[in-house]
Amino acid sequence: MKQVVVAVLGACGWMGRVHSNAYAAMMRQFPRLGAEVVIKWLVDDNEAGAHEAARLLGVARVGRDWREAVADPDVDLIDICLPDALHFEVAKAALQNGKHVYCEKPFTDTGAEADELVALAQRTGVITRVGHSFPVNPVHQLAREIIRSGEIGDITMFRGTQHVDSHGDPRAPFIWRLDGELARTGIVGDTGSHVFSFMDYLIGEVDELVAHCPIVFGERPDVPGATYGGQAPALETGRTRKVTNPDAGFLICRFKGGAIGTIDFSRIATGKRFTQRYEIYGTKGSITYDYDQITRLNLFKLSDTPGQQGFRAIDVGPEHADYRSFLPLPNFGLGYNEIKMLEASKVIASIVSGAPAWPTFGDAKRIVALVDACMASHASRQWETVRN
Ligand SMILES: NC(=O)c1ccc[n+]([C@@H]2O[C@H](COP(=O)([O-])OP(=O)(O)OC[C@H]3O[C@@H](n4cnc5c(N)ncnc54)[C@H](O)[C@@H]3O)[C@@H](O)[C@H]2O)c1
Repeated sequence: MKQVVVAVLGACGWMGRVHSNAYAAMMRQFPRLGAEVVIKWLVDDNEAGAHEAARLLGVARVGRDWREAVADPDVDLIDICLPDALHFEVAKAALQNGKHVYCEKPFTDTGAEADELVALAQRTGVITRVGHSFPVNPVHQLAREIIRSGEIGDITMFRGTQHVDSHGDPRAPFIWRLDGELARTGIVGDTGSHVFSFMDYLIGEVDELVAHCPIVFGERPDVPGATYGGQAPALETGRTRKVTNPDAGFLICRFKGGAIGTIDFSRIATGKRFTQRYEIYGTKGSITYDYDQITRLNLFKLSDTPGQQGFRAIDVGPEHADYRSFLPLPNFGLGYNEIKMLEASKVIASIVSGAPAWPTFGDAKRIVALVDACMASHASRQWETVRN
């Protein structure tokens, strides 16, 4: 059995914990992977937290400096769960050291950086993958199969939306995600990129778009230790910080295949704790999806008997291998953490087989190109060509 030695960078954050828990449970959850996954390093600025996690997970090494783990010859896979601005530098160093790289989204801040990493990854021949996790849910594999089979005909329209309400309250404190230095593209790279990942996975490339991506709240309370999702300010400090990246995005796009898309996303949808939906219309039918019913796809077909037409709810169940990895019965529901486990298992499967899987750095480059075009269009107030 192949051993895959992993270093998790940013191990004490939200994603770092999700990824390391996925590796720790992987061999029991996915016994047919044919790999023994060993976490060798947990790296985080929060050294005490990393030590505690290492004790609980039986991890050998803890560090504050990601460079040590990246240079370790024992390590096969560098898993990047650091804030966005660090992704490019860390991924580049990992690729230069011949490591496989699994990087959280957005994997770079600009298309130029994405080009550089894609070229580097091609030269080294390693496995790369970006954490655009939502399409990994087997319900979207089903949507893709239906679309590719031609069952709903030629795609004419896409509507996609994803909102959180982490910053709908103007009193919600400043966190790194609102800092243009640490997250250059704000909600566009953060949440927009999730909608873009559905577009890439299900529909295909976009030719051009026009976007409005405003900063809605120009400043926020500066509360030391504030974390994502901490709804109200823990204390009034009287200090504020400037928000330097977009809070929301609204766009219209034209896909290469001719379909039109309308997309909106934000972090300011007060009361909408987490909303993710898409609607895909074709010449023979349509598909709709709503995260509130996480493993359900709604399918409409014009070929159904007139008078009996309507949306049919399809709940993915154990007939889909990825669902069966967790549950023997349909409609028990998969959760976000299980979908991240599936994603991590696919990284390991790619390393074992040598077969890359969507979204590689090369695929995610198209998603970065959409983010780039949104930022350019917001600045120019014009339609922009997407540089795929
Ligand atoms: N795929 C998804 O659904 C999803 C969800 C959430 C976050 N993300 C992405 O994951 C990444 C991390 O987000 P998060 O929410 O886990 O953030 P977080 O703030 O919870 O965690 C980041 C961690 O990195 C550590 N850190 C920061 N700078 C460091 C440095 N220089 N060296 C070592 N450690 C450092 C912090 O101490 C923290 O523990 C982001 O790029 C984000 O966009 C993806």
